[in-house]
Amino acid sequence: MTESPDRLARFRSVLRRFTTPLLPDDYTVLANPLWSKRELRGKIESVERFPDDTIHMVIRPGWGVPVSFEAGQYIGIGLRVDGRYTWRSYSLTNTPDTTDGLFSITIRAVEKGKLSNHLVGTARPGINVRLAAPAGDFHLTDPLPEKLLFVTAGSGVTPVIAMLRSMEGRREDTDIKVVHSVRHRSDLIFEDVLADYDAHIQVTSEDGRVSPEVLETLVPDFRERVVYACGPATMLDELESWASDNDLEIRVERFTLDRASDAKGGTITFAKRGIETTVDGATTILEAGEAAGVQMPFGCRMGICQTCVRELVDGHVHDLRTGDTKEPGSRIRTCVGVAAGDVVIDA
Ligand code: FES
Repeated sequence: MTESPDRLARFRSVLRRFTTPLLPDDYTVLANPLWSKRELRGKIESVERFPDDTIHMVIRPGWGVPVSFEAGQYIGIGLRVDGRYTWRSYSLTNTPDTTDGLFSITIRAVEKGKLSNHLVGTARPGINVRLAAPAGDFHLTDPLPEKLLFVTAGSGVTPVIAMLRSMEGRREDTDIKVVHSVRHRSDLIFEDVLADYDAHIQVTSEDGRVSPEVLETLVPDFRERVVYACGPATMLDELESWASDNDLEIRVERFTLDRASDAKGGTITFAKRGIETTVDGATTILEAGEAAGVQMPFGCRMGICQTCVRELVDGHVHDLRTGDTKEPGSRIRTCVGVAAGDVVIDA
């Protein structure tokens, strides 16, 4: 059932007159859990399970969730695990031009993957989840380059699958090479899509890893290609320095927070509490607050859900996720913000 935003806004406005001191949200979620205005929500529509601890999951976004996205972007999913909301971002694997407004993701259980393991074990149709809107800079350009090289490893293939699917029908215009690594042959997912593009599959337990030298042998015209890469940080670091040495255009997607930055740290003042703490440039403001006894709300701790946003009263904060520097008066995501000098936070 699709709800018109106008109708819902009128419904909320009428409710507000009768529901004070509670918020209309407290009632509307009883009528339909996907109508919450406080946070974005969705419902698991279907779950397909595979023997290798992998699931394909389709989510129906609730009211207010932006459904347009670019192939290669991710959504944030939040779910209560052990009494606390845990967030993780997952690449969308369906294409943006599908008109059903649904989100498809693929999840594999991984060591220490709290939410991934929980979802693989327990996800079923009908469960409500919190959502963070589609985001991410890892997507194709328009127009497409003439030649592309995708280098992926493990579940890093997922954003590229959406890109490959979105390029069907335009393939005659672009020369595409795909090099994908898996540790074991049984780890391979999306075999059909990869076969369509005649991807080179490197089984690292048998053939060794894909080093830049291997890549140059597999793709002799690599200098003519724009490179998209997604996989473990070590692989991405190596590819970025290879691309820089060879003057290649490269775009990478990292799903872990890279703490390396020029931010020097400084003294953080939590103004409302009157608490000060001094930190380095790799400790986030959220972490610094927790260590100093200032508990601030948080969700994903990855810069996607916005639960941790606070006002920067004074000083400058470096955003580890975007690389931006935030000015006084900005709203900052404390989970990915580090102090670039002394700062004052409204917390
Ligand atoms: S906790 Fe989700 S954006 Fe900071």
